[in-house]
Amino acid sequence: MAEEKDYSEKEYWTQRYENLEHAFDWYCEYSAVAPTIKSLVKTPETARVLIVGVGNSRMAHQMATDGFRGSIVAIDIADNVISFMNEHNPDPTVEFISMDVTLLDLDSESFDVVVDKGTFDGIACAEQADGKLEMACREIHRVLKPAGTFCCISHSDSRGDDLRGPEWTIRHSEVKPESLANGRGAYHMYLAEKPDFPKR
Ligand SMILES: C[S@@+](CC[C@H](N)C(=O)[O-])C[C@H]1O[C@@H](n2cnc3c(N)ncnc32)[C@H](O)[C@@H]1O
Repeated sequence: MAEEKDYSEKEYWTQRYENLEHAFDWYCEYSAVAPTIKSLVKTPETARVLIVGVGNSRMAHQMATDGFRGSIVAIDIADNVISFMNEHNPDPTVEFISMDVTLLDLDSESFDVVVDKGTFDGIACAEQADGKLEMACREIHRVLKPAGTFCCISHSDSRGDDLRGPEWTIRHSEVKPESLANGRGAYHMYLAEKPDFPKR
């Protein structure tokens, strides 16, 4: 098992994604959070979604199948997992791009929803974690449309502390997927909603 700090490093993930064969979802499948994520937008069929640190998870395609037909952009810092996802991408509304969440090469105010599952948790292991999480928050806030929402799914009940800074309102709830049945705890979901009319 790699040391914890490795989870924040591109090299760790690139090595982990060598010889990929299957999809894999950390924590839970999209179905466990689908009703909440769908409730964040009025019209999923036109919503633009950004998934940060998508890895080889099924989330992008499961969201598209669930009615998010505007466009889904899914990024990851590991080039090889993005190549793998592009090789297995039959859906032209889903786009996989190599990119660092702390430096998004994406237009401001262009997404209705941004989703993270496990990426902030990985970055939180970095030596300069606070600075990196702050940069990621700032970038996510920038690319969100007014009234857009950042949905951060985490193993941590204190990840909300890392989201403070940008102008948005944070709500916290628990996610209890079937895989955590029998009273074995829960994951955490933070919904950070950007105001419709930012303060001037
Ligand atoms: C714990 S995995 C979660 C993968 C996927 N979201 C899931 O739920 O299965 C964390 C992912 O974040 C990616 N990652 C780590 N740091 C990143 C960064 N700075 N920018 C973009 N992706 C990053 C890793 O390559 C890895 O795929």
